[in-house]
Amino acid sequence: MTRADWEKSYARTESALGQAKIEAAPDLPRLEEVRVRFTGRKGELTELLKSLKDLSIEDRRELGPKAQGLKASFDAAVAARKTALEDQGDAVSLSDDAIDLTLPSLRAPRGRLHPLTTTLHEIARIFQLMGYSWAEGPHVEDERHNFTALNIPEDHPARDSHDTFYLRDLPLLLRTHTSTVQIRTMESQRPPLRVVCPGRVFRHEQLDATHSAVFLQVEGLVVDEGVGLADLKGHLQTFLQKLLGAATKTRFRPSYFPFTEPSTEVDVKCFFCPGTGCPSCKRTGWIEILGAGVVNPAVLKSVGYDERKWSGFAFGIGVERVAMLLHGVRDLRDFYTNDIRFLKQFDESLL
Ligand code: DAH
Repeated sequence: MTRADWEKSYARTESALGQAKIEAAPDLPRLEEVRVRFTGRKGELTELLKSLKDLSIEDRRELGPKAQGLKASFDAAVAARKTALEDQGDAVSLSDDAIDLTLPSLRAPRGRLHPLTTTLHEIARIFQLMGYSWAEGPHVEDERHNFTALNIPEDHPARDSHDTFYLRDLPLLLRTHTSTVQIRTMESQRPPLRVVCPGRVFRHEQLDATHSAVFLQVEGLVVDEGVGLADLKGHLQTFLQKLLGAATKTRFRPSYFPFTEPSTEVDVKCFFCPGTGCPSCKRTGWIEILGAGVVNPAVLKSVGYDERKWSGFAFGIGVERVAMLLHGVRDLRDFYTNDIRFLKQFDESLL
């Protein structure tokens, strides 16, 4: 081959390379076709390089690097296009995978009401069915509403047992029970009355499995003509059977509260044992669930009601205690630590 022939075939190859448009190859198989056409075993560039051997040593020295340069830029263009096409392919297959219709769906976490809230709602709902209305009062109270009007005068020992939080430098306190709302309701309404008063109460208690410094109570109050202990028993028995089941057995024990006379504490048959005694019922077979009594005439008098005309009964229920019984929770603190694993157990549909 003459130098002139070689240069002709160099020019042909170079222009064929230009027309091959490597950077526009639409996919990997088409790119490979182009590569084989030029640098395959019988490719045009391969042949061009091979034919250098037919030239004189001087021509080879001069034209060899030129031909090598052409091959190097071809190889680089092919490699660049290959990388680009592969990246594109990855992106396409990733976006295909993003919608895998065979995957089970992720469960969206659903919020729900706290078990103490649902218990409170359930208690209120039952009393609503029994004709009670709903009343609320402030957390910060004066001594009159928390004690004096409830027949707990200044030096009454019951004041000590309440472990009261007082506000600094003010004659005010955090209410120790929702009985305060009895007084507020009677002060603002005339009898007959039928109310439940749910809310937060505060006592300087040591925290343990059954005590908290902040807890929930539901107070109940009925005032009417000729209302007495038999009505109290009927209402509370009906309530407890609606709350805990028709077969619930109750027991009324004599007790003492300054604001009721007579006073009683109501127990239900233990849920955790067949009445034979266990740690939950302090081995008695019964669990105390509320305090109650016939409203002391001194309380009616303190709000200006005529105690000869009106009488009533009242009761106080601990909400945490009821929630513990309903759900078999043995430590009250679990309700307040907000451990999501604990809270997740309470399906709203259960109440
Ligand atoms: N206030 C009482 C307490 O916190 C509960 C209570 C007992 C309320 C008897 C009443 C009642 O209305 O009659 O321990």
